[in-house]
Amino acid sequence: MRQILVTSALPYANGHIHLGHLVEYLQTDIWVRFQKLVGNRCVYVCADDTHGTAIMISATQQGITEEELIARMQKAHMADFAGFDIEFDNYGSTNSPENREYCAEIWSALRRAGLVVEKEVTQLYDPVAGTFLADRQVKGTCPKCGAANQYGDNCDKCGATYSPSELKNPVSAFTGATPENRSANHLFVNIERLRDFLTEWTQKGDHLQPEVANYLAGHFLHEPLRDWDVSRPAPYFGFEIPDSPGNYWYVWFDAPIGYMASTRQWCDRHGENFDDWWRSDKTEIHHFLGKDITYFHTLFWPAMLKTAKISLPKKVHIHGFLTVGGEKMSKSKGTFVRAATYLEHLNPAYLRYYYASKLTARVDDLDLNLDEFVAKINSDLVGKVVNLASRAAKFVKKTGLSAAYPDDGGLFRQAAADGRTIAEAYDECDFNRAMRQIMAVADRANQYVEHAQPWTLRADAAQAQRLQDVCTVALNLFRQIVVYLAPVLPRLADQTAELLNRPIRHWDESQEPLVGTPVSKFTHMMKRVEPKQVDAMIAASAEPEADNAAAATFDDSPEPLADEPLTGVCTFDEFAKVDLRVARIVAAEDVPEATKLLHLTLSLGGEKRLSVFAGIKGVYEPESLVGRLVICVANLAPRKMKFGTSEGMIAAAGAGGKEIYLLSPDEGAKPGQRVH
Ligand code: 2FM
Ligand code: ZN
Repeated sequence: MRQILVTSALPYANGHIHLGHLVEYLQTDIWVRFQKLVGNRCVYVCADDTHGTAIMISATQQGITEEELIARMQKAHMADFAGFDIEFDNYGSTNSPENREYCAEIWSALRRAGLVVEKEVTQLYDPVAGTFLADRQVKGTCPKCGAANQYGDNCDKCGATYSPSELKNPVSAFTGATPENRSANHLFVNIERLRDFLTEWTQKGDHLQPEVANYLAGHFLHEPLRDWDVSRPAPYFGFEIPDSPGNYWYVWFDAPIGYMASTRQWCDRHGENFDDWWRSDKTEIHHFLGKDITYFHTLFWPAMLKTAKISLPKKVHIHGFLTVGGEKMSKSKGTFVRAATYLEHLNPAYLRYYYASKLTARVDDLDLNLDEFVAKINSDLVGKVVNLASRAAKFVKKTGLSAAYPDDGGLFRQAAADGRTIAEAYDECDFNRAMRQIMAVADRANQYVEHAQPWTLRADAAQAQRLQDVCTVALNLFRQIVVYLAPVLPRLADQTAELLNRPIRHWDESQEPLVGTPVSKFTHMMKRVEPKQVDAMIAASAEPEADNAAAATFDDSPEPLADEPLTGVCTFDEFAKVDLRVARIVAAEDVPEATKLLHLTLSLGGEKRLSVFAGIKGVYEPESLVGRLVICVANLAPRKMKFGTSEGMIAAAGAGGKEIYLLSPDEGAKPGQRVH
């Protein structure tokens, strides 16, 4: 039996849970439920992430204390999680005495190791809010291109990066006041001193997905690691640093320590010893989080743990972002859907299954395609799974299951054997593979029922035994599938337990058929999804103004460090020669003979087409590209390649290899438009 401690990233206490967050909490919950079902000892902890400038300002704006604000939000978060059957063993808060205690402990260790250095930092200061502002809490005019309403660190329009003090006409995103430059001493952790450890830990062993290890090697570890600024001067909502009065730990210092604090609360409630969970080889620690916060969890956090002699995670599982219909969630389009809004319109089981069917062990983004969502639920869950029970249960309500398991041509045995590979897929977080294998079992079970046609046997009294046997097989195959789906669909597992009068508590229930047990009256298990329910959810989520900016305003985390040094200057005229255009990919196909190339046909509007060979095979599936907008170099001299002539190039970021990110314009851009 493994002993496993699992965490999901702690949600900020200043925003509601939405479908994007749920990718992670559902992924983690499914993994945890799987571990518990196979008999491992597994504890799942989480907490609200409560500190920082954004919470402080938001509380002031609402005229309440920070404590009130975070208490309200915690209640809302916990209700949303419960609504989706996400079951934490402990849900804490970073604003807890346990967290303060562990922060102090880790801080002393960093001090003792001589890793803390003090430096003066000049930051913009909001004189109205009375607080320093992070780069993304300042807006103004781009110093390079003059675009208005740009953040303090980079320009959306021209891509320039700069410091907030270079912005023209800067205003605080919170109060609209003109910020001032102010200096203060900050405390930094010199993590470069842990380079050898961090290189070894990130690059060797199996702590990280390969693409994450490569990302760290290519983006951070190739040059000296910058000192990490872990303090903020008063006023700040957080914990004051005991040996540096007037300074507070930066929210990102105390947030991951919240994992420990939440575990401690669980330990105290269950008479467990904290050290068995965080300072012992007995326990495997698994963190689940999104790709945007990779470097906090794979560089800073291991550095803190190592210094304080606390267990390092066995694995950091990183997932991508949610897109809806291939695009960023958008408030104006109604695709920025809150958890609570979803629950008013749709069954949580649908989303649990849909996400499970899309999640792999890779960092790829996950697309919620609403048509596919409806089709998948109706065909897989309603059509293939629940239908098995609804077609068989009613015929054995009086008799119960046969006393001996009938000959089913080896179907049960085959599906029992599949349990091993399905379990492996779950354990490896490849839920997509697990769901495909389970649906293959369901397909075989449905073929059996189609062939045996229990509904035709009912009329003939001489076929009573045969009818009972056929239904016994169908219900056993159904139950086996439900055991395999139990981590994803716990309510279906409970309903099945009631129907067949046998609880589902262990994965091994899939290995032996049930015989001779009574069958309860079949009650409805899951309805088909109607497209109009989805439409209603989207309509209820649509907001007139796109206020994604507000969400960004509240994001207190810094951008990851820039990866590559900037190249030398090009003149404006040189730049102007490059004709960059918005293009739509209208066809994409594999070039079977090439290892890296896909053949794309780009539309520049009207009749204008470009045929382009792009080195993105293996990173993007051709089908997923058709229809999307990209940025292309439209006047590149045609290049003869082995497989044809390439008439352009599409723009992408990233280091190459598996790490390629195609650029897309914001909503509203049209094919053929020039990019300036
Ligand atoms: O990115 C976020 O939403 C953070 N609140 C996550 C914190 S995770 C951990 F470090 F606490
Ligand atoms: Zn600009």
